[in-house]
Amino acid sequence: MSFPITRMRRLRSHPVLRAMVTETKVTTDDLVMPLFACPGTNVKNPISSMPGNYQLSIDLLVEECKSLMDVGIRAIILFGIPEEKDETGMIAAHDDAIIPRAIEAIKKNVPGMYIIADVCNCEYTTHGHCGVIVDGDVDNDQTMDSLVAQSITFARHGVDMVAPSDMMDGRVLRIRQGLDAEGYYNLPIMAYSAKYASAFYGPFRDAADSAPQFGDRSSYQMNPPNSNEAMREIEMDIVEGADIVMVKPALSYLDIIRRARDRFDLPIAAYNVSGEFSMVKAAAEKGWIDENRIVKEILTSIKRAGSDIILTYHAKHFAEKLQ
Ligand code: PBG
Repeated sequence: MSFPITRMRRLRSHPVLRAMVTETKVTTDDLVMPLFACPGTNVKNPISSMPGNYQLSIDLLVEECKSLMDVGIRAIILFGIPEEKDETGMIAAHDDAIIPRAIEAIKKNVPGMYIIADVCNCEYTTHGHCGVIVDGDVDNDQTMDSLVAQSITFARHGVDMVAPSDMMDGRVLRIRQGLDAEGYYNLPIMAYSAKYASAFYGPFRDAADSAPQFGDRSSYQMNPPNSNEAMREIEMDIVEGADIVMVKPALSYLDIIRRARDRFDLPIAAYNVSGEFSMVKAAAEKGWIDENRIVKEILTSIKRAGSDIILTYHAKHFAEKLQ
């Protein structure tokens, strides 16, 4: 049928009807809020490049989790700012390291909160790279030891899911084997599978104090122009045992999310990263955009592209104001 029998505007003519025929709806069930744990008590360091986000000591992190639960955000992903760093990141796998302690405190005080832990080394190494440096580059196979050790420690302290973000080859398999050998065969792995070497991570590196001290991450994170390679990365992680695969960043990579959705049947996550968040905040502060409408449109677009799970710093704002 064509015009004038068909008129597309008929279905847009009433707000109730528009709501009825809405194809994509974001809900708080889809969202994961990233949080940053730091040492000390009663510490709330504002992250200047990410307005409204803080490095929180564990006591305040627990309070933040309670207030997230109150508005319906029931999942977080944790990043750690450690007391001390080392050459390999192995320091993050100690039982008294920042993330294991944070997991334990949250589980004890906010038992309903679903805790995902980012597994990587860049916050914990003196040089800020995601692994062990050999001859000026990150060594793939040596790096996996600390990733497996971190995952097992986090599991022992009660984490609900681990999310390796380092982009080493073969790490999903090694982590799966490591967890299974310790009896954690039911702990899911969400793999940062297609993670690009992106300028959109700039504000996060301030937040997590994880900027590389030399060079960049191009020898392990993906080259932004590549799309076929993303399918290979995702496929490898699935074969190695990933339960959920992630595309990161989200907005400049909606085509990758869509391609992955059309090709793979497991749940897909997308990370709406720090730079994507901060650009919205900066434009909103200047009064150039309507922040509420923009946030809703951004999250909806990520879901419409095909992701089931969205990691986003907008999670609390969305839950409070935008549903
Ligand atoms: C750790 C990690 C990074 C992010 C998540 N995990 C930083 C990086 O790879 O440099 C970025 C998150 C964001 O920008 O919001 N490897």
